[in-house]
Amino acid sequence: MRTGKSCFWTMLQALAFLPSMALKDSQTTTKRVIEEPEFARPIGNHTFFLGREAVIGCAVSNLGKHKVGWLRAEDQTVLTMHDRAVLGARYSVNMDAPHTWQLRIRPLRAEDRGCYMCQINTQPTMIWQIGCIDVFVPPDIISDDTSSDVSVQELENATLTCKATGHPPPKITWRREDHEPILLKKPQTREFEKVESYVGSSLPLLRVDRRQMGTFLCIASNDVPPAVSKRITLLVNFAPTVKVPNQLLGAPLGTDVKLKCYVEAYPNTINYWIKNRGEMLLDGPKYTIREEKTSYKVSMWLTIKQFSKSDIGTYNCISTNSLGKSEGTLRLYEIKLNSPSEDFNNQISVAGGPMVFVIISTLYVSTEELGPSPKLGVTRP
Ligand SMILES: *[C@@H]1O[C@H](CO)[C@@H](O)[C@H](O)[C@H]1NC(C)=O
Ligand SMILES: *[C@@H]1O[C@H](CO)[C@@H](O)[C@H](O)[C@H]1NC(C)=O
Repeated sequence: MRTGKSCFWTMLQALAFLPSMALKDSQTTTKRVIEEPEFARPIGNHTFFLGREAVIGCAVSNLGKHKVGWLRAEDQTVLTMHDRAVLGARYSVNMDAPHTWQLRIRPLRAEDRGCYMCQINTQPTMIWQIGCIDVFVPPDIISDDTSSDVSVQELENATLTCKATGHPPPKITWRREDHEPILLKKPQTREFEKVESYVGSSLPLLRVDRRQMGTFLCIASNDVPPAVSKRITLLVNFAPTVKVPNQLLGAPLGTDVKLKCYVEAYPNTINYWIKNRGEMLLDGPKYTIREEKTSYKVSMWLTIKQFSKSDIGTYNCISTNSLGKSEGTLRLYEIKLNSPSEDFNNQISVAGGPMVFVIISTLYVSTEELGPSPKLGVTRP
């Protein structure tokens, strides 16, 4: 009986005749006399996950005194010979299934992707068959090729980019972290459309609008879990714009009067109120000053307590940030409740105090971006 080593060399020498003879040989094996070895079934192509184990089987009948070896098809490296591994600790061979030489590769690397040859040292030429393995690799985001947080001026263009490795090549999906739809400019228009998600490595944002500000998730996924994601925050910088819902406010003496302004700006603003172009008003016994901020929107309130003749006048809400300054103007006047000409249809009672306003709906807009002011009839008492 030959030793494994001499068998190994015999096989290596025989490789020199491959592949021209081997192919012909394997096609004719079925017609040989029954004692000759033959392959019971094809190896097939198989897919395994990176880091796990690959197992492919070579089923042989009538092996007789012959030996089975596994080779890497690409460079004909011998991996296993009969029942033992020849090359490195990652390869092994076993016969868990009857008459099947199982090649095991563990842990599996991406470079193990390829085809493997099972060979039997028949004489004068060897017979062989080939099977291939694919190594699936979970997605991984390439930090260097992926946007960090992006800061742009409003109406500039911005592109968020996300690149990922993996096999099969991962799909990149964009979503907003707050689950709001993504606003995308319709081509050739100034209009936006809302989409739940966007697929593509780059998310192009043309003439960025403040409403697009927020944190986006780029999600890389392929057939291999887990999907991975990265947060990318888009900051849209713009000077403050101020909207005044009620520019003219009438109130009876002795009531509390609430003045309101809406500000939009990024980065953050400093906001305050002035009266008759004078000093800044301070929160205290006479005035209550409040503001509420959600993302780039700020609501400002000034409550004038115990409205008196001296409170009649012009008030401004003023908002500034690093990009500019904007203000809204409100005029406060007295309503004489006893006057018979009073139009009560427009009065609103506000819970929490005897507040009565005559609402005169005009709009103050500090920039043209927000569109023209509505033309509304003004009712004066
Ligand atoms: C197995 O994969 C190889 C390489 O990708 C291909 O050439 C061959 O046709 C495949 N065989 C089968 C049975 O799918
Ligand atoms: C933004 O991109 C569009 C289309 O690519 C281009 O026409 C426009 O000039 C760009 N605007 C700026 C401010 O770069």
